[in-house]
Amino acid sequence: MSGASGLTIALDGPAASGKGTLARRIAAHYGLNHLDTGLTYRAVAKALADAGEPLDDEALAERAARSLDPGALDRTVLSTHEVGEAASKVAVMPAVRRALVEKQREFARRPPGAVLDGRDIGTVVCPDADVKLYVTASAAVRAERRWREIVDGGGTAEYADVLADVERRDARDMGRADSPLKPAADAHLLDTSEMDIESAFQAATALIDGVLARRNAD
Ligand code: DC
Repeated sequence: MSGASGLTIALDGPAASGKGTLARRIAAHYGLNHLDTGLTYRAVAKALADAGEPLDDEALAERAARSLDPGALDRTVLSTHEVGEAASKVAVMPAVRRALVEKQREFARRPPGAVLDGRDIGTVVCPDADVKLYVTASAAVRAERRWREIVDGGGTAEYADVLADVERRDARDMGRADSPLKPAADAHLLDTSEMDIESAFQAATALIDGVLARRNAD
């Protein structure tokens, strides 16, 4: 779609809210770059683990963050549960956040514009984003989706464990001192508890098209 050039779209929300799938579809639809910023935190944790380094040394973690290339993130390798757990530990470190936020901003500035998804995009990384969406769903619904993903992929998991995990991550993401997960004051809330991905995509593009129409009319 034309007219989206130079656009920055921020998508924030808790784990398993569907924001990642939505962000990829939005980026493809408008011809924008896409960065899943969770992968940048995951890559730092993975680099430390691969080098046999501890996860609680902020100076080492900052060095790993500064040498990260956001253009070379391997989703398959970084998507494991273990890497996610490790990522949430380095994500509380201010020096790591500063280094990664710089790289994320640089990514957002590259033509033809970008969709970034994460926890602090609308509040910290791109406070001037053209469109901000806060994608959420109840913890029960998010746990159900994640459980189904595991089971459909041939794995086994107890729903109660998946729910406990989702709730633990929420508490960590929303409770941390530096850049906690919360909707930006000017974010549009998209509660996908009762929506499938198609309806969520329709709702998101209706909002974005509205912003584009106003922008192109100016
Ligand atoms: O969305 P995810 O599971 O890939 O995120 C991994 C960890 O990184 C998770 O603990 C939240 C954190 N994160 C963050 O603090 N800020 C972001 N912009 C993205 C992710």
